Amino acid sequence: MEKTFLMVKPDGVQRGLIGEIVSRFENKGFQLVGAKLMVIPRSVAEQHYGEHQDKPFFGELVDFITSGPVFAMVWEGEDVIATARQMMGKTKPAEATPGTIRGDYGVTVGKNIIHGSDSPTSAKREIALFFDEKEIASWEKLL
Ligand code: CMP
Repeated sequence: MEKTFLMVKPDGVQRGLIGEIVSRFENKGFQLVGAKLMVIPRSVAEQHYGEHQDKPFFGELVDFITSGPVFAMVWEGEDVIATARQMMGKTKPAEATPGTIRGDYGVTVGKNIIHGSDSPTSAKREIALFFDEKEIASWEKLL
């Protein structure tokens, strides 16, 4: 079954949106198979956002994502990568459709509440960066 990496960013955690965000994915029918509240070490943030290292906002991006606790998650389900991206909405909250997480709660492109893997390759890389295999649960016996 497909897995994706989702993360409530420091702005979402501080605004008390963890429960709301977890509920949206549970209500949709996806399974939460890994989760932790953590402050991301700077070296991990730089790896996570490595593809943006030449962008002018890279320093700001790493400063922000390491500025407070994030809620890192692994979710499982059919087409969860693309569906979660749709549920998150566009990166710029002003362009995100109402009803999506960023459309409902986001204000700026930097403080846009949630991160989600954009492809199977990114999902694999991001899950491995944030979670040990032992930290990922299996629901198979229950289903
Ligand atoms: P995310 O999905 O976490 O992946 C890369 C992030 O870069 C993106 O969400 C935005 O929050 C952030 N980002 C994109 N453009 C800008 C920008 N112009 N200034 C600051 N952050 C940005």
